[in-house]
Amino acid sequence: MHTLNIIGAGRLGRTLARLWSERQIFSIGSVCNRSLASARQATHFIGAGTTAADIESMPPADFWLIAVADDHIEAVAKELAPQLRSTNSGQTPVVFHCSGALPASALCACANAQLASAHPVHSFANPEQSVGDLPGSFVALEGDSTARQQLEAAFSGIGCHCITLSAEQKVLYHTGSVMACNYLTVLMDLSLRTFAAAGVDENTARQLLEPIVLQTAKNNFALGPEKALTGPLVRGDIQTVTRQLDALSQLANTTGQTELAGLAEIYRTLGSAALPLAKKAGLGAAPAQQLQTLFGPNPLR
Ligand SMILES: NC(=O)c1ccc[n+]([C@@H]2O[C@H](COP(=O)([O-])OP(=O)(O)OC[C@H]3O[C@@H](n4cnc5c(N)ncnc54)[C@H](OP(=O)(O)O)[C@@H]3O)[C@@H](O)[C@H]2O)c1
Repeated sequence: MHTLNIIGAGRLGRTLARLWSERQIFSIGSVCNRSLASARQATHFIGAGTTAADIESMPPADFWLIAVADDHIEAVAKELAPQLRSTNSGQTPVVFHCSGALPASALCACANAQLASAHPVHSFANPEQSVGDLPGSFVALEGDSTARQQLEAAFSGIGCHCITLSAEQKVLYHTGSVMACNYLTVLMDLSLRTFAAAGVDENTARQLLEPIVLQTAKNNFALGPEKALTGPLVRGDIQTVTRQLDALSQLANTTGQTELAGLAEIYRTLGSAALPLAKKAGLGAAPAQQLQTLFGPNPLR
């Protein structure tokens, strides 16, 4: 079995290491975090591996996962480079990171190794939960072909599906995922704030939103965004949209919460972005033009 060392066994690193260890895909070698206490917690969670106080004291390994924050990957790769040696298995070491936005070349300081990036399309908010939920997720691989093939086998072994990307695709590919996943969370927050302004407590609002948000997500996957779009905009209910915009514009004044001043602007921008979808879904040219005037210039044009 190949050995895997991990630099940065945080939420993602410890989850992957535990799954790979449990499935006997990698033998977990050395784990180095910023603090030794955190590395100990990680090896406890993984159920395998030894801790290292610094990168310099880590023994050789076949695979090196650098799972620190994106902004520190290059610096850690530079620190790792002088450490890289072949193991007894004779394998050229593979060094990889899991950033969605950065290409494998962020690791170019480790020129003697095979380099790859492997981005699991999963939110590792809670490692204990991710251990159960990660199988079935997709992983986007990019980098040297031998490294990609070996990582594809490793991820397939824990139930993930792999796709291959080029280095040039990575930033926009990752942005696509940010748009849907991260900004969905932001929209949820804005929705809850609007409910709160209407006097609906957060608990009730969350309960009320859960079935409709889940249903909307389901409709999007089953039917596509064009057919999933419902509501006043696609119906051409101009007066309703106008009343909602007025209410949002007045919120900061009526509640005294200045941070709500931007809500009307966000509603306008999203409404404007929704118009092409609404038109495809049957919204007539005249109401579409009236709505466009209400929202201002279309940012997608
Ligand atoms: N979280 C996600 O949902 C997710 C999803 C896909 C991809 N990713 C990618 O996975 C990578 C890690 O993200 P994460 O969310 O797992 O981060 P995280 O939970 O913040 O963990 C980062 C880990 O790196 C360690 N670390 C930071 N600097 C270090 C250094 N110089 N030397 C050694 N260890 C160092 C930290 O140690 P301490 O614990 O001691 O501070 C921590 O354990 C990122 O590239 C991210 O883009 C994350």
